[in-house]
Amino acid sequence: RTGYDLVVVANRLPVDVSTGDDGEVTWSRSPGGLVTAMAPVMSGAQGAWVGWGGSPDLDLDPFEVDGTLLVPVPLCADDVESFYEGFSNDTLWPLYHDVISAPAFHRAWWEAYQRVNLRFAEAAAAQVAHGGTVWVHDYQLQLVPRLVRELRPDVRIGYFHHIPFPPLEIFTQLPWRRQVVEGLLGADLVGFQRAGDAANFVRVVRRLTDLTTRGQVVTITRHGKVERHVRAAPFPISIDSGAFDELARTDAVQQRAHDIRRELGDPRTLLLGVDRLDYTKGIRHRIKAYGELLAEGRLSAQETTLVQVASPSRENVDAYVQLRDEVEQLVGRINGDHGQVGHAPVQYLHQSFPMEEMAALYLAADVMLVTALRDGMNLVAKEYVAARSDDRGALVLSEFTGAADELHGAVLVNPHDIDGMKDAITYAVHMDDREARKRMRRLRRRVLGHDVAAWSREFLAALQAVPHRSDHG
Ligand code: G6P
Repeated sequence: RTGYDLVVVANRLPVDVSTGDDGEVTWSRSPGGLVTAMAPVMSGAQGAWVGWGGSPDLDLDPFEVDGTLLVPVPLCADDVESFYEGFSNDTLWPLYHDVISAPAFHRAWWEAYQRVNLRFAEAAAAQVAHGGTVWVHDYQLQLVPRLVRELRPDVRIGYFHHIPFPPLEIFTQLPWRRQVVEGLLGADLVGFQRAGDAANFVRVVRRLTDLTTRGQVVTITRHGKVERHVRAAPFPISIDSGAFDELARTDAVQQRAHDIRRELGDPRTLLLGVDRLDYTKGIRHRIKAYGELLAEGRLSAQETTLVQVASPSRENVDAYVQLRDEVEQLVGRINGDHGQVGHAPVQYLHQSFPMEEMAALYLAADVMLVTALRDGMNLVAKEYVAARSDDRGALVLSEFTGAADELHGAVLVNPHDIDGMKDAITYAVHMDDREARKRMRRLRRRVLGHDVAAWSREFLAALQAVPHRSDHG
């Protein structure tokens, strides 16, 4: 064939690939919201997906999964350290999440970021059909749009940013801010989670370039002539809500939800947190609030359980190592102070689970706690809602998530305000059945009415609508 009409480029492939001692290749689903959202979009779409297989020095040929060609991009140990752990997750990630943790700026990491972005761009350019579409994803690959445009001026280029885009005052700390903005402006359409993210981006473009902007549209000129337009707009991402709803209705999942409660000793109240173990997620703030509620007797330590799933993430980055220590110390202290033989008020699980088990946990939980300090969207909140076809359960949701813009019906909290969070948790625990159902029905209308297929249709339609040179033949 002469190439794929749609090529997705993301740092990770939808599967983590590993090779056994015998050289046999096995894979499992990759972590995080990007893959949760994009995997169902691509399945059966006959496109190609360019990405990293998840461990260093994997050099594999492209292979097909579910009708999608997966094209592995190799990263050597130094790329993993400097591009992935370094620039992506110790510079950009904290910078783009309100500097919750201090970003580190290292010139060698920036070199690695440029070199690896070029490798992804070349792989995408080699796969896409003439006049096709390249859809680039997330902060690890912000230089790729421009690089692909240089290699393949015939294709349409979309970019979607899954995490927050920070305010000008924070973004401009980045020593390479201009190159990053110019990288993104290589796209025809730059999508963000929230209107506020798109507005931040346009403000940065105005400050750092001499291009003209009008509303969402940036005009690129060359020698005084209009060359093309770039649109920056919000496209809030979603999940495969229908599939999740169906999964949660199966007998196996319903039965497992009962068993989970029984195994936990049939607590009167089951609270649930599900996150990658990341300092943006507000896990410490949440557990602290819970500990105080137990200490004050506002929640009964005997009759309440908090299940906290904290899936391992970025374990070679210092800030994550430190966070893990802090969370585990806090959990240990609360269980030590308030536990009994046979009952620990916090069930802490530093593991990842398959979707079926997650659906059962969501169904078992009376109150879901999503208390991120900053989060692009937060798809866990949407999964919880999609699982609750019984219209029961309550969602406590941080106002600093993209999801808070959409999920009216949640009990909103400021996770920095521990007292406010304690009140909100108590309110959610004691919410009467009528109010809970009313809120959950409203939440479900939103989550089921706007799924990830709608999101990607809208993004791709908007991308096609941006005037492009291929429109003139
Ligand atoms: C977030 C990011 C993704 C990332 C995921 C998991 O959802 O937006 O780009 O893939 O976290 O993080 P990891 O570093 O394991 O890929």
